[in-house]
Amino acid sequence: MALLNRPSGAYPDDVPDTLFQSVDEAAGRLKLLFVVEKELLRLSAGYLPAVEDWELKKRLTVHVWQDARRADFIRKRTLELRFPRKDVDARTASQRAVMKAAQELLGCRGDAEFATGVYLVWKRACLQGYETYLSLTDPLLDEPTAEPLTRFVSDLSGQIAEIEGLLHRLYRDKPDMNPLAAGWERHCVAALLEVSAQASEDFGSRLTRPGQGAQEDTVENRKPYSPPAVPVRDSRFTPTFHHNADRRILPDDRFDEALEKKLIQGISHANEMWAAEAVGAVMWAWEDMPWDFYTDAARWLYDEGRHCRMGEQMMSRLGFETGIDYPMAGESYAALFPHGYEQLLGLLHYFESTNTKQASKEWFETAGDEDSASNLDYDWADEALHLTYGYKWLLHRLGGDSERLEALRDESARIWSEWFNERVLASPDKPYEVFRDRILRLAEAKGLLPAGGSMA
Ligand SMILES: [Fe+2]
Ligand SMILES: [Fe+2]
Repeated sequence: MALLNRPSGAYPDDVPDTLFQSVDEAAGRLKLLFVVEKELLRLSAGYLPAVEDWELKKRLTVHVWQDARRADFIRKRTLELRFPRKDVDARTASQRAVMKAAQELLGCRGDAEFATGVYLVWKRACLQGYETYLSLTDPLLDEPTAEPLTRFVSDLSGQIAEIEGLLHRLYRDKPDMNPLAAGWERHCVAALLEVSAQASEDFGSRLTRPGQGAQEDTVENRKPYSPPAVPVRDSRFTPTFHHNADRRILPDDRFDEALEKKLIQGISHANEMWAAEAVGAVMWAWEDMPWDFYTDAARWLYDEGRHCRMGEQMMSRLGFETGIDYPMAGESYAALFPHGYEQLLGLLHYFESTNTKQASKEWFETAGDEDSASNLDYDWADEALHLTYGYKWLLHRLGGDSERLEALRDESARIWSEWFNERVLASPDKPYEVFRDRILRLAEAKGLLPAGGSMA
């Protein structure tokens, strides 16, 4: 792409004498960055249910939302710069090649390769794309772009640094992944450089091919990705297929009602990762939705990940360790997944349209449990948004037919309660027993329960 030299003497002396770009060139660069950001956030959302490492999973729920906010800004700014052209959502052949290469990142074998390809290769290239843009643009003429892009650079650098820190542990825990990941990283860099050269943009040109001597990997013979039927949980957790801690499962005559409700609330909240994973799987599966869908869904996914972190924080304050002292599972996702993505999102929409958060918040307030009441207060505020998202986007998928939407939601609820009755209540497998014992023992040790009572 041709660059014009800044005419001498045209600007005050304190503006650095850099190259500058025309409006059309600026829009072209931003559009490519939008294409990349959109694919990266969609594939990160889609991979969420397959991520095993609990810390990586939680970080992804935050990053997807940050990615969506950057992408949304760039898309709007591209439209401003191209006005009256509106082709920001159209793709050239070279941009489609970039999308395809990004999607191949999901040919990864597990968390370490996923994080390596997405963060160490593609997000680094994206970061360089923003830095290059800032070095070429006039800080005053293009201030509406330059000002937020400066923040995007620190945003993205922070994401990469966080995941680099995690990768040290992932590699340490799985040393056999090291040589494989080096070959994979070489492959990802090579694939990115090939498509960025086609797109004629300075995107990733400063990346170097790592792992000299490592066999360059290939995506050939790797299966195309589809989200797992059962969301993956950390291998450090005690395995279980359900988390549901209602009164039929966690009864003990020593619990007072406030403690019982607090525990049930904390465990349910911590397990809301299933909702983030359901939204993520849908973001991946529904490829050609209007742009607003992805920004709404990214916020939805982030909120559910945040509710999960709120539950974990609450349980940790009581002294309970995630996945060890109380169960972590994604059974609502697993129960609906075989019935299709609309049905899966339909269950989340059903739960959100029948929510009792307000009543629970008031109950905890009256019981003097400010901590639980505040959690529910913020959760309830988020639910109002989610209800709108569920209604709007399911209706979109169902051609605007609100009767079909109602039927879909009811059917999701029916499938769920049948699954729960068969698999949990009527099943001879009682995976909850181990957690119930731990919960009671810990509650007793922390003085939350009188010692030596009988289990009901
Ligand atoms: Fe939630
Ligand atoms: Fe929600």
